[in-house]
Amino acid sequence: MTATATGFEPVPSWTRVPDVAVVAAGDLYVGNAPMGVLVAASGAVPPVLGVDRGDLAEAEFTGKIGQTLALPQPGGPALIAVGAGDPAELDGDRLRDAAAAFACAAGSAGRLVMALEGATGVPPETAGQAAVEGVLLARYRFEVLKKESAPPVTALTVVAAPDDVQAVRRGAHRGLVYARAAALARDLANSPPSMLTAERLGGVAAQLGADSGLSVEVYDRDALLELGCGGLLGVNAGSADEPRMIKLRYRPEGDPDVPRLTLVGKGIMYDSGGISLKPADAVHATMKNDMSGAGAILAAMAMLGELDCPVAVTGYLMCTDNMPSGTAVKLGDVLTIRGGTTVEVVNADAEGRLVMADALVLATEEPVDAIVDIATLTGACLRALGAQIAGVFGNDQGLVDQVRAAAARVDEQVWQLPVAHRYRGEMNSDVADIKNMGGANAAAIHAALFLEEFVAGTPWAHIDIAGTAQNDTARTWIPQGCTGFGARLLLDLALAFQRPQPAPLARKGRA
Ligand code: BES
Ligand code: MN
Ligand code: ZN
Repeated sequence: MTATATGFEPVPSWTRVPDVAVVAAGDLYVGNAPMGVLVAASGAVPPVLGVDRGDLAEAEFTGKIGQTLALPQPGGPALIAVGAGDPAELDGDRLRDAAAAFACAAGSAGRLVMALEGATGVPPETAGQAAVEGVLLARYRFEVLKKESAPPVTALTVVAAPDDVQAVRRGAHRGLVYARAAALARDLANSPPSMLTAERLGGVAAQLGADSGLSVEVYDRDALLELGCGGLLGVNAGSADEPRMIKLRYRPEGDPDVPRLTLVGKGIMYDSGGISLKPADAVHATMKNDMSGAGAILAAMAMLGELDCPVAVTGYLMCTDNMPSGTAVKLGDVLTIRGGTTVEVVNADAEGRLVMADALVLATEEPVDAIVDIATLTGACLRALGAQIAGVFGNDQGLVDQVRAAAARVDEQVWQLPVAHRYRGEMNSDVADIKNMGGANAAAIHAALFLEEFVAGTPWAHIDIAGTAQNDTARTWIPQGCTGFGARLLLDLALAFQRPQPAPLARKGRA
């Protein structure tokens, strides 16, 4: 398969929608599907399993989260005991992990049944959502380019207590939509960079938009020249492929006076470092994922209509690759961002902030209540917080808190870092308004300071997903590879978004 292979489908997860159903315990017909049954670390063992604690202990099954034990049934469907941990501690996050462990233990089964009766104490809507997300996300694979691929989950039946069926059904629907958003974001980030160019992503966005009720405008090089997007054009200068700015719009039906949220995503289809070429190491080899921010926004926004989001959401995806060549931007070159700010490029590998800057300015030119950007921006963020926690920054504590709350609800961890103005001087340039990097330390903060320069005081939050975009070893509901981090977070943020309060006391988060 070459980079020009025809027929490559960048978003296989869009059309492959698993069938999710919720039934009441008792009316169950499971056929031959393996059924997961929650077993807590203490208390009664569900009778359906036909074993007691002693039998389980003999098989070294204690009921911890993540543990599973297959109990083959002669002539019937396989039963799988699924650890639910301490019953007092069971919550949506632990249930999602337990469901993921079940889905992995069920191997290649395409039809699965998960019984939720053991999830007492978890609100039924939360339980339905978590169970569906855990199963579907854990079994996600990007295998369109392989000869042989593991069968995906095609049908999932959730079994609920009869009184909970309605609420579990609502949660299960939401879980399906959230899982599809993350799967789409994973598809996009996992796609090889020469197969998913900026131009091709424009085509994918147009298709997803048409299918999901988003309006999509795609800006090519000439249109970007007209807009004065010198950041995106500058990073694109070394590329054989054209840049694209993709503008997405979701508007709820009815009352136009709703909160307005704008999302800005880094869409570097491949980051070689440009003239500041990256070494040929393992991190460089993951740089097709440098569009994960843009992918997360597209994936989240494609689901807003399905969940009747009451908020107006606009998305800017800033797309190009970052390549070295005779036409690439040189160190010492000065780029003019939309709106006129000049930037001295002192490192061609600090390209993300350059493409984001144009979009932040565009975002402020329309009526907007808040801007949230998301980007695989700095290796420093990966160093500071590792691969399981993203950095969040902002100029408005209320908005940052909305991001933190959404992150907590979807179990995508974030940690707030300061927009420390005391370091802004390190980015002063002799020849331009600002340089595109500061000193060797606090590089994640420099990147945030740079972005803040372009938001004109609008409430703004910045999520640095350089660490969390990629997973080296499969863990709970996150398989190895690109994680789709941010898609569920942004979807949840948009659904619950409220205008930040202008109270000056709320404008903390400054250092
Ligand atoms: N895309 C990278 C950030 C990155 C690094 C993501 C490692 C994931 C893993 C970004 O464009 C970059 O190269 N940033 C530089 C900035 C520096 C030159 C100021 C970095 O972090 O080294
Ligand atoms: Mn870079
Ligand atoms: Zn980059």
